[in-house]
Amino acid sequence: MKILVTGAAGFIGSTYVRNVLDTSDDAVVVLDKLTYAGRRENLRDVEDRIEFVEGAIEDRDLVLDLTDGVDAVVNFAAESHVDRSIADQDAFARTHVIGTSVLLDAAREHGVGRYLQVSTDEVYGSIERGTFTEESPLNPSSPYSATKAAGDLLVSSHVHTYGIEAVITRGSNNYGPRQYPEKLIPLAVLNALHGDSLPVYGDGRQVRNWLYVEDFARAIDLALRHGVAGEVYNVGGPDETANIDVVRRILALTERDESLIEYVTDRPGHDRRYSLSSAKIRELGWEPSRRFQEGLAQTVDWYRDNEWWWEPIRSGEYREYYERQYGRKLA
Ligand code: NAD
Ligand code: TYD
Repeated sequence: MKILVTGAAGFIGSTYVRNVLDTSDDAVVVLDKLTYAGRRENLRDVEDRIEFVEGAIEDRDLVLDLTDGVDAVVNFAAESHVDRSIADQDAFARTHVIGTSVLLDAAREHGVGRYLQVSTDEVYGSIERGTFTEESPLNPSSPYSATKAAGDLLVSSHVHTYGIEAVITRGSNNYGPRQYPEKLIPLAVLNALHGDSLPVYGDGRQVRNWLYVEDFARAIDLALRHGVAGEVYNVGGPDETANIDVVRRILALTERDESLIEYVTDRPGHDRRYSLSSAKIRELGWEPSRRFQEGLAQTVDWYRDNEWWWEPIRSGEYREYYERQYGRKLA
């Protein structure tokens, strides 16, 4: 197959591309806008095995050109951080709604055989008890998840109206190498390594269902190749952990004192708990490769060993973001 992978200069997309190249003979074309989160370095080790195009998924002419002759489209392109969506949601609507619509139209026009939309468990909203299945209603609560849900609905409408062969995967919170340090785990790991405070929102008892990034990448590939068109597949990690326990484990792994924990003002509209049933993707043969404890230790080791990757980030746009987001909150 020739696969167009959008947003593959980011955290999960780059892991996915590496997985495809390792496990198949497929040709990969990457389309990525290179936002603050998109980095060519994420694809450095596979650069000569892919075609890279810099551009946006909402650029109709470019997308029509790139989808001509491809067998599959996998759409990772997104603004992925909830806190940024609360501050300014324009880019979220543009990429998740307009961008997805343009990609779907182009896939239909060129008769692309397969389309996979990479989505998130956050479209279901928060759940106090129990577990979401693919039948759970969409109830997104942040501008990030609301615009992702809109993208999912567009995909379903294209399946229903035009019969395109599309599949949606909804993953729980990912962690692992190459995650931009605005997200809880890499932020806490880098702060701990530097001896800086670890900001914990609210009471820190919010629960996330942590999924190792390579496991999500494998699930996406499985759903692309063997999923039933029109279906949604949830992909949840094996462990649910409260944020405060995540932070404590990171402090233990980096041999830092818990006095670095700093409780800060809560995120507006903060979802309390995510929990996802993966029974359906398991029926296709997927299972997670590692528990959170093991994956987290490997992730901490990766950040410790790859200063070349995070040092340019910490001294760039990230500084300003960090000041805006935490400056007033952190002592
Ligand atoms: P990321 O922020 O690391 O990467 C996003 C990539 O998309 C970047 O390379 C960026 O340059 C690119 N991009 C952004 N807007 C674009 C546009 N308009 N056109 C082309 N490229 C654009 O994000 P991630 O964590 O790798 O997430 C990838 C996908 O997985 C997203 O769709 C996200 O909603 C979904 N997802 C993420 C998680 C998670 O925990 N990170 C969990 C479930 C699902
Ligand atoms: P995050 O990594 O932003 O992912 P998401 O919002 O998509 O779940 O946040 C994970 C959890 O950690 C979430 O409950 C918010 C919380 N959090 C903090 O407590 N402090 C932080 O500095 C960040 C970034 C997140």
